[in-house]
Parts: sequence; structure tokens; C-alpha cells
Amino acid sequence: MLDLKEYGIEMWPEEKIQAFRKALLDWYDANKRDLPWRRTRDPYAIWVSEIMLQQTRVDTVIPYYERFLHHLPTISDLAQAPEEVILKLWEGLGYYSRVRNMQKAAQQMMEDFNGKFPTTHAEISSLKGIGPYTAGAISSIAFDLPEPAVDGNVMRVLSRLFEVDYDIGVPTNRKIFQTMMEILIDPDRPGDFNQALMDLGSDIESPVNPRPQDSPVKDFSAAYLNGTMDKYPIKAPKKKPVPVAYQGFIIRNKDNQFLLEKNNEAGLLSGFWSFPLLEKGAVVDKQVSLFEVAEETVQPDIRQSFTEHYGMTVDWQDEEFDSVQHIFSHRKWQIDLIEGLVDTIELSAPNEVKWVSVEDFPKYPFAKPQQKMWESYIKAKKL
Ligand code: ADE
Repeated sequence: MLDLKEYGIEMWPEEKIQAFRKALLDWYDANKRDLPWRRTRDPYAIWVSEIMLQQTRVDTVIPYYERFLHHLPTISDLAQAPEEVILKLWEGLGYYSRVRNMQKAAQQMMEDFNGKFPTTHAEISSLKGIGPYTAGAISSIAFDLPEPAVDGNVMRVLSRLFEVDYDIGVPTNRKIFQTMMEILIDPDRPGDFNQALMDLGSDIESPVNPRPQDSPVKDFSAAYLNGTMDKYPIKAPKKKPVPVAYQGFIIRNKDNQFLLEKNNEAGLLSGFWSFPLLEKGAVVDKQVSLFEVAEETVQPDIRQSFTEHYGMTVDWQDEEFDSVQHIFSHRKWQIDLIEGLVDTIELSAPNEVKWVSVEDFPKYPFAKPQQKMWESYIKAKKL
């Protein structure tokens, strides 16, 4: 365990810690949100909820959670599910490596733990995709183990309680907050203690419009009492996502089917189906807007590249009919859309491409950018 004094953090005496636990848990008992994963002790279900909640808001998660457990109610169902099924169940949540890793972890449980969810913190931590936060959340909520679950919300609350002068966005600083939580956590109700801090952090102590005067633990909060709430937590601004310009091709054949391609490359959106996309060749000059790059240069060439790449001659329709944008955590995609018609329905491209009719779209996992491309097309062409 770290020596917190070396970091200028003075923890409270035991009576104050106990008073804090009581104030927090009394508030939680009276105000906790009624969430579906709080009505179960099934570690598998709790795991699903915690993974979904990592980058996604509670309201968005609820229907995904219910649907996921309906289709894949057990570890063994998840371990055996085809890739397209798990991507479909996650479609729209983003950060798809989360669900791929869950499947690998489920396979690990089938092989190493007899198909059961492991019950110790060390074993839970050994599962693919389960980092310290998730291991702490599952251990405490499903198994009553006194393990902290430190996420951004919890770090924000602790920063204000103790005026912590360490940046919560710097990964190595996490261990400071982990140590603080090891001291504070209520050994009798660790799961509720962790979830009470999560609720506090996502509402009363939220990053935008916090209401510190309503906090059940405001009398414990150094930042509140010292009038330094707007200084904490310390957090350097995030880097902006890098812009990338694509040409998106909505290609229709004479049978009214559309060309879709599977992304077999590792990385962003691997395994998803998409309308063909080619990165616009121009290296984006930061001084020039993406729009100008698109206008000026690349169009005729990129149509030619399409023809070469996909081995088909296309009757291009007008100019680009729209542009859609999608922001991932590190990338900002701008996709300029063009429609093309083809006579032939033979496919000779080396890639995994298919002609798909609109009725069959639901069988193919589409990520957000592809959904936006399709919506834009429907709107532009008044379909
Ligand atoms: N965010 C992450 N885990 C959560 C949980 N168990 N309850 C509410 N919000 C959460």
C-alpha cells in the first residue's frame, strides 16, 4: 500500500471514517437508483452491466443489458456465440473490444473455471478485459469482498473530499485513489459503498453542474468547506481527436442491392460491415479545413481508385450528396458520400464484399458511422 502522507494526503481518524460510511450509506439506502443489475447477485449479469457502463451512460445501457442477458443468459451462451451475434447485441454501444474481450473471458471461464464465474479477486482479475475497476466492482457487488472500484467518478469525489493535487487523468495516479479507497471502504457493505460513490459521482458530484450543497457528505469535503470546489479534481484537458477524411460509397446494383464489405482488419470496427470506404489520399493539412480538401482535389482520383479496388465500372450519380461525421475517442471521421449505380452483379474484389438487399441489413452488424451513412442516404434520396 502507498504511504499517502508522501503525497500530501492526510486520511481521517477511524471515527470520522465510520461516520462518513454511515452518512454515505444512509443516503444510498434512501436514494439509490433502482437499476436492473441491482436486483441480482449473479456475477455474470453484474459483469455484463459493469462492462457496458464503462463508457456508456446508465440510461443507454439499460435496454442493451436486458437484451444481452435475454439472448445470452449464461457464460456458456456467450462463450459459444458467433461474432456477428455479439457485435449485433453491442451495436451502437461502441468500444467493441469490450464485448470481444468478454467473449474471450467467457471462454476462459469454460476452460479454467468449469464454466463458473470465479469467486476470488485474483481470479476475477485474471480474466480478459477485466481491469482493476471492473475486478473491484464485481468482487464487491457480487461477492461482498472489500475491494475498491475506482473509476473517474470515484476519483472526482475523492479529489474533492481530500483536495487531492494529483491529476485524475494520469493513469499512474490511480493507485493513490485506490489506496484511499482501501482505507475508506466499508468492509460490511463494500458493494453498496462502491455503488453509493458511483451514484454520488454521476449525479450530485457530476462534472457538469454539480450540486455540492446537496451532497450527503459535504461536511466531510475539504474542497466544499474551503471553497475550492472549482479547483478539484485536477484534470488536464484531453487531446483533440485526429481528423480523418473518407469517401463513402453507396453502390447500388440493378437488383436494388447495396454493396457491403466486411472489415477484417484488426483495430477500429473490426468485424463490422460497411458501405465501402476509402481514405482520402490527401494528408490533411491542419491549416486547411477538411471540407476544402474534399472540394479541391481528390474526387476524380478516388472514384478511379474505387473502380480499381473493387473491379467494377460505376455510373456515378451527381456530386457528393452529403457528409457525415463520427467522433471516436482518438479519431474524428468525416465521410463524404457519393452514390453509384452498377449493372453487373458479379463481384471480383479480393475483399469480403456482398450485395445485400435492404431487408437483409438487420443481419449485418453496422457501427454508428455506417448507420449515419445509411440514414443520410435515405434522407437525401427520399427513400
Ligand atoms: N457505473 C458503473 N457501475 C455502476 C453501477 N453498478 N451502478 C451505477 N452506475 C454505475
